[in-house]
Amino acid sequence: MTRSLLLLALLLTACVEPAAEEEPPPVEPQALPTVQGLQPSVDLDPSDDVAEYAMTVREGSVELVAGQMVEAFTYDGMSPGPLLQVRRGQLMRVHVTNDLDEPTTVHWHGLRIDVAMDGVVMGNIPAIAPGDTFVYEFTPPDAGTFWFHPHVRSNVQVEAGLYGALVVHEDAALAPSVDADRIFVLDDVLLEDGVIAEESSNHMVQMHGRFGNTLLVNGQEDPLSIDLRPDGVERWRLVNTANARTMVFRFPGLSVREVGADGGLWPQEWTRSIDELTLPVGARAELEVRLDGDEGSLEQVVLALDANNDVIEVPVDRALVTLDGDAAASDASGFTADPPMALPDVDGADEHVLAVSAVNGADGVTWMLNGRAWPEASDWVVDQNVPVIIEVQNDLGPEHPFHVHGQFFSVLERDGAPADERGLRDTVLVRGGTTVRIATDFSNPGTWMVHCHILEHAERGMMTTVEVVP
Ligand code: C2O
Ligand code: CU
Repeated sequence: MTRSLLLLALLLTACVEPAAEEEPPPVEPQALPTVQGLQPSVDLDPSDDVAEYAMTVREGSVELVAGQMVEAFTYDGMSPGPLLQVRRGQLMRVHVTNDLDEPTTVHWHGLRIDVAMDGVVMGNIPAIAPGDTFVYEFTPPDAGTFWFHPHVRSNVQVEAGLYGALVVHEDAALAPSVDADRIFVLDDVLLEDGVIAEESSNHMVQMHGRFGNTLLVNGQEDPLSIDLRPDGVERWRLVNTANARTMVFRFPGLSVREVGADGGLWPQEWTRSIDELTLPVGARAELEVRLDGDEGSLEQVVLALDANNDVIEVPVDRALVTLDGDAAASDASGFTADPPMALPDVDGADEHVLAVSAVNGADGVTWMLNGRAWPEASDWVVDQNVPVIIEVQNDLGPEHPFHVHGQFFSVLERDGAPADERGLRDTVLVRGGTTVRIATDFSNPGTWMVHCHILEHAERGMMTTVEVVP
């Protein structure tokens, strides 16, 4: 039913109903808070219980670099796709139509939902064939910043433009009091002669993943411009959607507090001031941002080689922040709520080792976990709600952003020392030649993907599954 038909039907039902003695107050759909930076998708369901969206996956041209249109894969003609929003605990329904010439899926990165809605092709869960529509339906149990992308030929489809952000809003009482809530979807793309480069079988790409030559924020190369009111404070949500690039940010001229990560906002005692943020592929950060003086910026630090082949840091502005001296002063107080967040209890937890390895064969590099390359079957089975410490051993040089579907974990240790990451995560960076220990209680039953989020590694075998038995 189209929206107008649905409204008409609702109006008609309202007319034929006998007038009640006391009219209940009309149910106004509760407006979702505004998140700036991306075009929001329109909720097709007027009721307050359901957020309903429709998206078409299709080719289209997008303006990544000012004045230059590029052919891309898009959601509704956009890359990143439209911003999808829902309230925690609200039912979300997304009709996805595939108008590409190849199968695709939508994976909801970080959501602890039913495995049948997770957008992976496994067992009897198929991809969305060209011309078909699939309806994803789920109720996100956690508030936070999430994203979505295909889980077939992901190195090609994500690079070609298929990624978007999904915000699950917290209950109003837990939301920070801010002047603006902004999202920054950060990507890098490899443009060659104004075209998104074809899939590469270059050895460097197989070893380290594909690095782009054009940094994007919300689908554009140019930095965003942001005006802040005097005494203003904002919430910034950062998402790294690159194929392979670990991102490092600094904040000259700004005061930044890290207040959350993949799994949502933290209890106050974990929040902290930061000067630098490392954001692995797939991960998210929640920041509370204030301006120190008149100007500041969100600066991405990129490593490059200088003329002597020495590695140098090149700062690239992703957002320029300016004080709007004419605006009224802000009375927002920032992030003051104290959301509960329980970390897995690791006392007496089982342990499971995942060791990274690689072989260089006739058709290039194959990446493996415990000596197996996807789609080789996994024999890893755990019980639901039983905590497990996972030790990811990476004895080789390249780094791996390690991602678990459908669960959150806490990061315990790096090479035996307490880890610096706080809160709940679904992605953790395992640097070359290091071992990382994480803990999860596998709260969500089903057979879930566990993989490296460098998409060239994942597609070259570095994926496995864990079966969580209720
Ligand atoms: Cu963004 Cu299998 O993940
Ligand atoms: Cu990897």
